[in-house]
Amino acid sequence: MPAYAVIGGQWGDEGKGKVVDFLAQDTKYVVRYSGGNNAGHTVINEKGKFALHLVPSGIFWPHVTCVIGNGVVVDPAVLLEELATLEDAGVDTSRLVISDRAHVIMPYHVALDVLEERSRGASAIGTTGKGIGPAYMDKVARVGIRMGELADAAAEEAFLPRLEQVVTHKNAIITKVYGGDPISLRDLYARCLEWGERLKPYIQPTEVVLQDALAQGETVLIEGAQGALLDIDHGTYPYVTSSSPSIGGAYTGLGIPPSSIVGSLGVYKAYSTRVGGGPLVTELLDETGDKIRELAWEFGATTGRPRRVGWFDAVAARYSANLNGFTSVVLTRLDILDNFSSVKVCTAYELEGKRITHLPSSLSVLERCKPVYEEIEGWDAPTASVTEMEKLPRGALAYVRRLEELIGVPVDLISTGPHREETVVNRPFIKKGEFRGAKPRSLP
Ligand code: IMP
Repeated sequence: MPAYAVIGGQWGDEGKGKVVDFLAQDTKYVVRYSGGNNAGHTVINEKGKFALHLVPSGIFWPHVTCVIGNGVVVDPAVLLEELATLEDAGVDTSRLVISDRAHVIMPYHVALDVLEERSRGASAIGTTGKGIGPAYMDKVARVGIRMGELADAAAEEAFLPRLEQVVTHKNAIITKVYGGDPISLRDLYARCLEWGERLKPYIQPTEVVLQDALAQGETVLIEGAQGALLDIDHGTYPYVTSSSPSIGGAYTGLGIPPSSIVGSLGVYKAYSTRVGGGPLVTELLDETGDKIRELAWEFGATTGRPRRVGWFDAVAARYSANLNGFTSVVLTRLDILDNFSSVKVCTAYELEGKRITHLPSSLSVLERCKPVYEEIEGWDAPTASVTEMEKLPRGALAYVRRLEELIGVPVDLISTGPHREETVVNRPFIKKGEFRGAKPRSLP
């Protein structure tokens, strides 16, 4: 069986955690390929409510192997804490595998993230302050430390001199450029040894694990983090994250062939939210925005920051659908709109008196765009907790159909509440099939 990707179609926080947890019942592997603990995937089930930052959302299903792929950046302290929380709740975490090629987020990355943001002043990106950008910078600059190295830190003589070289360089920047406090090499080395020792059992070449799984016909569910509009290449640069949350990131961030991904599921909220800086054309800075924020409790799962709120932006939605080749749309938080007498959808932007329906790449142009709205009548019965398409109120169904038309992709799944069972399956999309890519082979 092949791989399916679940990707955020907006600016993150679309509800991917719940969707992945729901779909994981039919899959053998759930894998993360990008980002790090800037993500906060909420899963509610019989064991409680969890905000997962690094561990894939399939961890609650005993038949699922969870993989943190090479494209993810891993903060070992955060990961160990998350594993402890899961274990305390009775979740077996031995089914987690971490790529030896995944880069480590070090304390100097976290320090630099905070210092760099502070120095940006009014043009701050609004990062999560978790060291994500600086860790990816080091990866590209070829000075990053990878999980495989961390696992061997105690046995490898070269580890300490290498760490010393990096820490010396980072401390020069932290103290001389930003006037911050230096990182202690001794303390960091001791922490690395401990992290390596504790995480070693999980570390493996995950591309091989996944290539073998696909060759054996297992289904792999790929869990995106953040959203396509925060993509380093395709998002609203520079107000983006430092990785590729779009479909392209899944191939490089896992080491699996393009032919293996047969389904690309775009998760969209029924309205828009965004955390941090950057354009949000449909932003509601009024009472309606406050009402959505309060009703939906739109506060960051990772940082607790209030999320910016707006109506559904079909221009941006179609852009991300085309970018990712979505084969299905998963619509979440429809129930929040139960509380409005009418809802709006942005169907075009107005730019200097002209209507445009594409997302401009230039930030300054995007900032000048005004939303052109279509108003849709609200519905008089709740969608909350509905589990069948036929039971959705007519008005809600009309809203879903209009979004489907505007995005250009069928809405196959609708989430009507935070619990697993509060889900409408319009069309099951994880199907039995054949992996048609080249099977991994050893040399003869
Ligand atoms: P960073 O990923 O911490 O560098 O943050 C860069 C931008 O992406 C900021 O605007 C963050 O608020 C945003 N961001 C990062 N991760 C998430 C997420 O999981 N959900 C929503 N926004 C995110």
